[in-house]
Amino acid sequence: MYLAVLGRQPEISIAELEAQFPKAQFLAGPAYVTFSATVSTINIDRFGGVLKLAKALDEKPLEFLQKLPEGKITLGVSDYSLRASRKSATLEALKLKKILVRHGRSVRVVENKDATLSTATSLHNGLSGKNERKVELIKLDDEWYRVIGVQDIDAYAKRDQARPARDAKVGMLPPKLAQILINLCGPLSEGSTILDPFCGTGVVLQEALLMGYRAYGTDVDERMVEYSKRNLEWFTEPENIHSRAASPRPVATGEARSTSRCRAPEAPRMNIFQVQQGDATSFTWQQPIDAVACEGYLGKPMSNIPPEIKLKTEKQECGAIVLGFLKNLASQIKSGTPVVVAAPAWLREDGIYSRLEILDEIADMGYNVHNKTREGLIYHRDGQIVARDIIILRKK
Ligand SMILES: C[S@@+](CC[C@H](N)C(=O)[O-])C[C@H]1O[C@@H](n2cnc3c(N)ncnc32)[C@H](O)[C@@H]1O
Repeated sequence: MYLAVLGRQPEISIAELEAQFPKAQFLAGPAYVTFSATVSTINIDRFGGVLKLAKALDEKPLEFLQKLPEGKITLGVSDYSLRASRKSATLEALKLKKILVRHGRSVRVVENKDATLSTATSLHNGLSGKNERKVELIKLDDEWYRVIGVQDIDAYAKRDQARPARDAKVGMLPPKLAQILINLCGPLSEGSTILDPFCGTGVVLQEALLMGYRAYGTDVDERMVEYSKRNLEWFTEPENIHSRAASPRPVATGEARSTSRCRAPEAPRMNIFQVQQGDATSFTWQQPIDAVACEGYLGKPMSNIPPEIKLKTEKQECGAIVLGFLKNLASQIKSGTPVVVAAPAWLREDGIYSRLEILDEIADMGYNVHNKTREGLIYHRDGQIVARDIIILRKK
């Protein structure tokens, strides 16, 4: 049994996990989800929506701690039970420490500022599961879990900020969201080709390479094609410390099939990406295309809520591009191919996001819509005017 601590938008994090573990049973709490994936381990570095990942202990927490290798233990406790408090978590940690000390072990307890330790506290105290004697335990009523991974905030920031070609105008897709878009495609074989037909500066392509896939990008703007190429060449240089620091060895996730024909790369390599200029509404892409993950055209950047008339023209322009693209794509992909698109949605005065109302038209083009609800999955920061509405499709 696993427990995942969810990101700022839990519904998106859960959708990401459900897509990767379609056979697992999920039970969601306020900030976490437990699930029963039948894999021996999960690499948290592949999941943009997961803050911490923990595995159920099959013994009492004290028995587990007593078996740790000799030397000083660093112990953190997060309590996700319904009535948990800073006090309850601290008491659990001190109770464990007292017994361990009585048995001759040296223990440092990481101080709780809340019932649960923040991602930064866990990471900076080394509780990410990499050191055997630095342990974070999660209590959930009578169940105990051991943290096996913590989101590496620093690695994401490096991948985002150190790229040589950046453009504020095309919007900066956070690498975490790029991973989520790819994961929402569902389990894919290692070495599968991911197409991004609106590749911009190449964030989806970069994350696809890191996850062990081949990356194929196209963009209508020649400048963006150059930016993507430049970024990916930089990203895949063997001596690039950023890519090496951030590169998790690809680990098959959940029910992912693996084929002996398509070996996953040890690290991103130059020869497994391709970038071309092309208008997504008319271009003929090269095969194979195993999955499509992209952030489509989001319209003009905005810093204020748009008046009705401006919103209408933006919606028409963006809607025409995404529909034109999906229509063009439909005849070029095989039945069952996943297509995940982040489309724009605009903040209204009443605080609700106004979306492109295009799902019925998309269904008529030969796609099944896989979003669980019609409300959609809107990825946004507080007060952000142009948000991303994540549409999950599969070719019929
Ligand atoms: C929001 S940006 C995508 C940014 C990208 N995710 C990145 O990592 O930088 C949208 C991109 O769509 C491209 N675009 C707009 N209309 C297009 C079309 N008809 N066909 C292909 N690309 C298009 C723009 O040039 C822009 O690079």
